Amino acid sequence: MATERTLSIIKPDATKRNLTGKINAKFEDAGLRIVAQKRIHLTPAQAGKFYEVHAERPFYGELCEFMASGPVVVQVLEGEGAIAKNREVMGATDPSKADAGTVRAEFATSMGENSVHGSDAPETAAEEIAYFFSGLELVG
Ligand code: CMP
Repeated sequence: MATERTLSIIKPDATKRNLTGKINAKFEDAGLRIVAQKRIHLTPAQAGKFYEVHAERPFYGELCEFMASGPVVVQVLEGEGAIAKNREVMGATDPSKADAGTVRAEFATSMGENSVHGSDAPETAAEEIAYFFSGLELVG
């Protein structure tokens, strides 16, 4: 399997509870390398642009407001099949359906406040990484 990069976000519900290190340990234990990382506070407009694909969904307003409600940690994870591997480590979007041991099973409190985001495909990973990072910030 090829080495890939994927965009990960540790969301405000998790940074608020000081869970960044515990979540990063799960990524690293799964063989993913954190090759870029920064803690930022998005504006609602910046969150809205990132989640533009969901603009017509009923939860879009709530999602943008939540993502701007506190700091997030944006990061690039690298490894063999990193996109699928990160989605395994995260668990299902709905924490009540997430497998035991996943980030969302352990830490997420609801479908909206689900602690982490991860890219879903190579094309979206490339776009999402470029939204937050320049090439100079990716140190593999
Ligand atoms: P994420 O993987 O970041 O991608 C889109 C986000 O929208 C998702 O995680 C959830 O946080 C949020 N989301 C998806 N479905 C719902 C829903 N039914 N209600 C509220 N938020 C949702």
